Amino acid sequence: MEFAILNGSIINRSEAKVDIEDRGYQFGDGVYEVIRVYNGKLFTENEHLARFGKSSESIDISLPYSVTELANLLEELVLKNDLQMGIVYMQMTRGAAPRNHAYPAKGITPTLVAYTKEFPRPVDSLQTGVKTILLDDIRWLRCDIKSLNLLGNLLAKQKAAEQACYEAIQHRSETVTEGSSSNIFIVKNGVVITHPSDPFILKGITKDVIIQQCLASTIQVEERPFSIEELQQADEVFLSSTTSEVMPIVEIDRNRVKNGTPGPITRKLQALFEKEIEKQCGALPDKVIV
Ligand code: PDD
Repeated sequence: MEFAILNGSIINRSEAKVDIEDRGYQFGDGVYEVIRVYNGKLFTENEHLARFGKSSESIDISLPYSVTELANLLEELVLKNDLQMGIVYMQMTRGAAPRNHAYPAKGITPTLVAYTKEFPRPVDSLQTGVKTILLDDIRWLRCDIKSLNLLGNLLAKQKAAEQACYEAIQHRSETVTEGSSSNIFIVKNGVVITHPSDPFILKGITKDVIIQQCLASTIQVEERPFSIEELQQADEVFLSSTTSEVMPIVEIDRNRVKNGTPGPITRKLQALFEKEIEKQCGALPDKVIV
């Protein structure tokens, strides 16, 4: 049997149902997180829970549980579902109420849902790298909130999929922002460059791990806006996310990045990232860098 969390209880997943007037369903009025599970352990769990709290606070939904209670629930869910390699998806909406754009006056309880999914590491793509397209960023101006409103992201990802590409790299005018579900990095003359964590992008947990690893090693890193031209002339390009880790990008709009193979700094960061996974979650059965 599969289990899910609904409002603080772990129940049979097939019995987890929400109201048709839930504001998440009608308005996308809520926030979410995707947390990676390796060897049955939640990777960067505290960071994800902190961001979840921050996202919900920024749209005036208060967490009905303490972070410790939530962490305990998620860990129990992973255990009960016997999940080894996968993800936990968790979302919280403002709750169910008669449809009205303005928040209901009072007495509304947030709806919190979480479930697990098996999800192997994308080892083949991590080895070879992936293709991408470049696209106008048409999203709203609070992309730092991990909101359920993902239409702009979905339209971008769909365009990429239609061109047999893994990701859409978005830009506002000349500035590269982020992928439809990932952060974007370039490497030029040995320096790793990525967009600063401001309202134009989501402050990725993976992005922050990578920056910490650069700072702790000899790799130079800069958080600053970079242009489409810099992207096109980069020595290396990669993306980062919970499910994609440190993913080399070898093509943008059918043009190869350098010679079309993952570069040395990307490889180094992949190795450091695998080290961090193993530190938090134990030895990986399938490694990209051996
Ligand atoms: N996406 N930017 C956007 C728009 C994202 O949706 C994500 C994550 C990221 C990377 O964040 P992190 O490293 O914390 O996963 C950046 C998740 C995985 C998703 O929506 O499935």
